[in-house]
Amino acid sequence: MCGIIGATGSDEVLDLLLEGLARLEYRGYDSAGVALQHDGTLWRARAATGTRSLEDLRKVVPDDPLTVTAGIGHTRWATHGHPTEANAHPLLDCSGTVAVVHNGIIENWRGHTLASETDTEVIAHLVEEELAGGSSLAEAVRATLRVMRGAFALAVLCANEPGTIVAGRRVSPLVIGAGEQGQGLLASDIPALLGRTRRFWVLDDDQIVELRPGSMRVTTLAGKEVEPNELHVDWDIEAAEKGGFPDFMGKEIHEQPRAVADTLLGRLLPDGTLALDELRITDDELRRIDKVFVVACGTSYHAGMVAKYAIEHWTRLPVDVDIASEFRYRDPVLDNRTLVVGVSQSGETIDTLRAMREARQGEAKVMVISNVVDSSMARDADGVMYTRAGPEVGVAATKTHLAQVTALELLALYLAQLRGTLAPADVGLLVGRLAELPELIERILQRERDAAVSGEPSPVATVAARLADTRDFFFLGRHVGFPVALEGALKLKEISYLRAEGYPAGELKHGPIALIVPGTVVVGVATRTELWDKMMSNIAEVRARGATVVLVANDGDTETAEQADEVLWVPETHPLFAPILDVVPLQLLAYHIARLRGHDVDRPRNLAKTVTVE
Ligand code: F6R
Repeated sequence: MCGIIGATGSDEVLDLLLEGLARLEYRGYDSAGVALQHDGTLWRARAATGTRSLEDLRKVVPDDPLTVTAGIGHTRWATHGHPTEANAHPLLDCSGTVAVVHNGIIENWRGHTLASETDTEVIAHLVEEELAGGSSLAEAVRATLRVMRGAFALAVLCANEPGTIVAGRRVSPLVIGAGEQGQGLLASDIPALLGRTRRFWVLDDDQIVELRPGSMRVTTLAGKEVEPNELHVDWDIEAAEKGGFPDFMGKEIHEQPRAVADTLLGRLLPDGTLALDELRITDDELRRIDKVFVVACGTSYHAGMVAKYAIEHWTRLPVDVDIASEFRYRDPVLDNRTLVVGVSQSGETIDTLRAMREARQGEAKVMVISNVVDSSMARDADGVMYTRAGPEVGVAATKTHLAQVTALELLALYLAQLRGTLAPADVGLLVGRLAELPELIERILQRERDAAVSGEPSPVATVAARLADTRDFFFLGRHVGFPVALEGALKLKEISYLRAEGYPAGELKHGPIALIVPGTVVVGVATRTELWDKMMSNIAEVRARGATVVLVANDGDTETAEQADEVLWVPETHPLFAPILDVVPLQLLAYHIARLRGHDVDRPRNLAKTVTVE
């Protein structure tokens, strides 16, 4: 996730860009940059100093800026290429007359010689080629977008067309604004422009806008002029940063379809195979692996538990999942045929980092699944696979967790494809099921939003209201439902401060069932898998002891619903992908209970987003 901004028709283009970038920092802060159109040339400044990028960018732009006719800016959360100045946007074509800022992922960037490590740079070169053939900037951008695959919102500036910015989008967001004095504005998000205008329009997929002082022209990629949709915005700036949600956690839960879709992007090929070519560990090395360890903490550990089921089932490789803080003290058996996978959204958690270092000393091949490009773990490891959830502000992990499970499922399938333990046709079928997941997550979340629009409490909020005074919760699951139960319990503990135990349902009768009394709330993951019958027998055991039963069930499954006091509905998918859907209502349950109890869900007590102490 990155933030883009553009402005024309104003004496204060540079101020506008810097002010907007500050408001877009929540979308990424690995680097920041601007390109300004001045006297028939482009002037560019960039800084890549992490959270200080914008501050450092301000130091390199002139105090008394040039006469600027138009400008574009960018704040980056790296997904492709290291967070360095060379990879910071705006990126230029060979001649330095075309500058591009981009949010999203271009899938077909290969085959061009690029000066940076970014997928974005290819856009500048394609536009350059079109301009050389005599196209106008708008025609050049249209032609370029017709051949681009992937997700993008982008803005392009050309030295030879003073005052003009051309921008376009597919999937990634882009809004256009119009200032009262004829300023033409654009940004990835409303907050970036709120101080300057309240008149906004949204571009649809595969539309471009030509912004000039006092004018705006929107066309399809075929060049047909269209009327853009105007937006009515009455948010204040803070609400806008949270996308209209009361907090970042709520916003981030609703961003999960995008986080999963972006994590899949470019990795599922049209022929039904998988490509993980940024992994840095060779296919031959992966073929030689004979055992896998996953090391992680907290929510990331739960993602690792799901991976165990998937990797073992599809590859027949034995997998151990270890809590990172325990791993290095238990003298694990490692050699050069062992693959150790660290899972960490921050890539900085010291327990996981140390466990991975221990594994490297034991000659294992070490890789990390991380949401932060060039994090300490990414630099330390032999291999890396990035999740692409964008920055997560809420302390409790939500969208990064779904992206982690997605990445681990991809890794499991990739290993199976490589080692031939799954037939290509089966990989193809599973790839198809994976690709459906963003849409299925959206379905769960859309029901919540629909209720909000009609002023009703949402389906999960209604269940939460009935449970908000309960003090003791049990979360039960079997097979991959077990890590989902653990994650549901952890979310509730973290933000609601309620006791919540996660258990494998079959284990209950070996002790903890003694704690079930009338009024205890038992939340069970009861979506359809081969173990559904057994799960329902365990639910019958707690019902018989007076528990209030809440079940996560597949849409329309009345047989499961009959055994529940409350139901949390989710669509059906392949059983090994079910954790990606089943955990969503449990995140929402914890979220609503915490809010009903008056807690700050973004900043739970005693917790930090990145834990760098042992
Ligand atoms: C829970 C949570 C923590 C983290 C854990 C590991 O919501 O966020 O349990 O999952 O501290 O952090 P990372 O993934 O950054 O290594």
